[in-house]
Amino acid sequence: MAATRLIIDTDPGVDDAVAIVLALASPELEVLALTTVVGNVDVEKTTLNARRLLTLTGREDVLVGRGCATPIGGASGTAAEVHGQDGLGDLSWSEPTVGEASEDAVEMIYRLAKEAPLTLAAIGPLTNLATLLQRHPDVVEHIERVVIMGGASFEGNVTAAAEFNIWVDPEAAAIVFAGNWKLDIMPLDLTHQAFLNDDDLSYLRNLKSEVGDRLAAMLEPYAKFHEEWVGNRDLIMHDAMAIYEVINPSAIKKSGVKAEVETGGVLSRGATWLSRSFHHAESSTRVGVEVDNENFVKLLRERLATYPSRV
Ligand code: BDR
Ligand code: CA
Repeated sequence: MAATRLIIDTDPGVDDAVAIVLALASPELEVLALTTVVGNVDVEKTTLNARRLLTLTGREDVLVGRGCATPIGGASGTAAEVHGQDGLGDLSWSEPTVGEASEDAVEMIYRLAKEAPLTLAAIGPLTNLATLLQRHPDVVEHIERVVIMGGASFEGNVTAAAEFNIWVDPEAAAIVFAGNWKLDIMPLDLTHQAFLNDDDLSYLRNLKSEVGDRLAAMLEPYAKFHEEWVGNRDLIMHDAMAIYEVINPSAIKKSGVKAEVETGGVLSRGATWLSRSFHHAESSTRVGVEVDNENFVKLLRERLATYPSRV
């Protein structure tokens, strides 16, 4: 079967980094570009981080398109306390050799979508995708499906109501949810089923590869944050769930839903309302509900082991 043509719209981000490195090592995917967006840190930094990750993995062939610097609904906030001031755990990096395209993210996605059917995995706030729909409404004819990490069926992680990617730009999420395309949503209640632990960190270090070492080093402060926040060192693999879904569409159990976003409200801004009524069973919007973490970690370990080791 031909590899799925994929663009990853991202705000790297430590868990974005794992997702990207997994995608780049997966033969089921043809990763054409990383398009960047404001989110975990500002777009200057997320773009630099995308270039760092492509340099780390030796993927000069993948484009980097810089996207929106400001949410449609106006500036909100970042998650530097989770991902580090630079977004990737504040390690030291040499200047990346992979550069940035002159074309912006939205035009890049539109151009590549018109060339052949394209899948979008969006693992940051949805500002670029909403801008794409506004600027080029006909893009929906060329997009096979959109898989996003975002939202929560039960409880948010920024406020009780809102998950980070939606909270940053609820107006953008509302536009994307209303888009006439196939949409699969990987919310917090799904992504919290997928995590790495200290054994996996040792596995990464034992790979004796630059990729393994860097991921382990950036995941360490991510584990520490989680420990202080909820009392355990689980490394939640939020963004990798969107990539796992594209790699293996039968790995994650999904239900048809009606998905809406609260853009008003004082307490509930950024909440996602995912109605699972039987009326929506055949909806073109689905939500991920269940994943087997053992199978996921096995695949992730195998794929990360394909990067060259130092010895
Ligand atoms: C999402 O928020 C970000 O901090 C992560 O990278 C992920 O995309 C999880 O809520
Ligand atoms: Ca992210």
